[in-house]
Amino acid sequence: MKKVLVIHGPNLNLLGVREPDVYGRITLDKINQMLKIQAKQSKVSLVIKQSNHEGPIVDLIGKAKKNKFDAILINPAAYTHTSIAVRDAVAACGLIVVEVHLSNIYSREEFRHKSLISPVASGTIMGFGAKSYGLGLAAILDLI
Ligand code: DQA
Repeated sequence: MKKVLVIHGPNLNLLGVREPDVYGRITLDKINQMLKIQAKQSKVSLVIKQSNHEGPIVDLIGKAKKNKFDAILINPAAYTHTSIAVRDAVAACGLIVVEVHLSNIYSREEFRHKSLISPVASGTIMGFGAKSYGLGLAAILDLI
């Protein structure tokens, strides 16, 4: 069975109450439930993690291959724009990595217009709200 690691970055635990005009009212639990259903239908195993800290995210990515994952679905959240460490971990991990964002980062503040992750990700999906995750997982299922 193929294994996919889902990583949610900082503040995504607050989805549902966090800036609903930007991110919608869907909670992270609901997004995770949807992803689990999609994975089950495709007979893929899913492990889901959320962290508000850079180090644990870097560790998860760095250990993913050793832990027998085939691909990573990641919303790096604010670390998208700031973390060379997360970018380097993605570049080094040797796995398919799909980056997702609920919002379209290019239609928002200028400081969000640069993703340090996109150049080293297999691909990026953004702007479709919670559906970005489902589309990202679909891309992974197609690739693995
Ligand atoms: C986000 C976009 C980021 O700019 C922001 O810092 C987030 C969420 C998104 O999913 O739209 O926390 O990654």
